[in-house]
Amino acid sequence: MTVTYFRRFCMRFDLREGLSEETALPKNYSLEPWSTKLVKEHAAAKFRSFRSEMDSNVFPCLGSEVGCLKLMKEISCRQGFLPSATWLIRYNNPITGVAESCGTIQGIQEQVDVGSIQNIGIVPSHRSLGLGSCLLTRSLAGFREVGIQFVTLEVTSHNTGAIRLYQRMGFCIVRTVYKSADLLYT
Ligand SMILES: CC(C)(COP(=O)(O)OP(=O)(O)OC[C@H]1O[C@@H](n2cnc3c(N)ncnc32)[C@H](O)[C@@H]1OP(=O)(O)O)[C@@H](O)C(=O)NCCC(=O)NCCS
Repeated sequence: MTVTYFRRFCMRFDLREGLSEETALPKNYSLEPWSTKLVKEHAAAKFRSFRSEMDSNVFPCLGSEVGCLKLMKEISCRQGFLPSATWLIRYNNPITGVAESCGTIQGIQEQVDVGSIQNIGIVPSHRSLGLGSCLLTRSLAGFREVGIQFVTLEVTSHNTGAIRLYQRMGFCIVRTVYKSADLLYT
């Protein structure tokens, strides 16, 4: 077992500077507001989004279905959990008629005017369609609804795709932090 340190950026969005218009979701996708009935669907989307990503080394719970369900239950019971900033995306397959959860984001109110995004994830086969941007915009609007002015998140410095998305949305890097993780192999 080796202890590895991951460099992570803390990024911040200033809601006082406004929020870009929400773009429409592609055909056959729908945005679902938070409900406790959706906890398993959020967990499934989280697991399928993160299982092959570096973040599942940084946060091992993201690499297992059980871990994601436990994490999702823990987030939704946390003080400050913000339903208005927590959204799910479903893909409604027009051929099979089966609905599949393919995107998740969760929000927490940390202080009166500060919120944080927990995990945003889009399942690989549904990426680069604008779903991540839609989830972020909807979540930021949910933070704004309750009077929050600043929204923060943390991202691993190697996660260049996610950083590009956050910067394009208007997030700025405010500091660098290091997160230790026990790795079986390095
Ligand atoms: C980061 C993540 C959420 C982005 O989700 P996404 O749905 O692919 O995001 P978007 O589609 O909005 O944007 C991604 C790219 O698609 C492009 N795009 C957006 N809409 C598009 C469209 N309609 N057609 C084609 N491309 C499009 C964007 O320009 C962007 O391009 P870029 O990466 O070159 O800048 C996703 O990659 C993910 O889940 N990663 C693994 C989990 C993770 O790391 N989460 C972040 C933890 S901090």
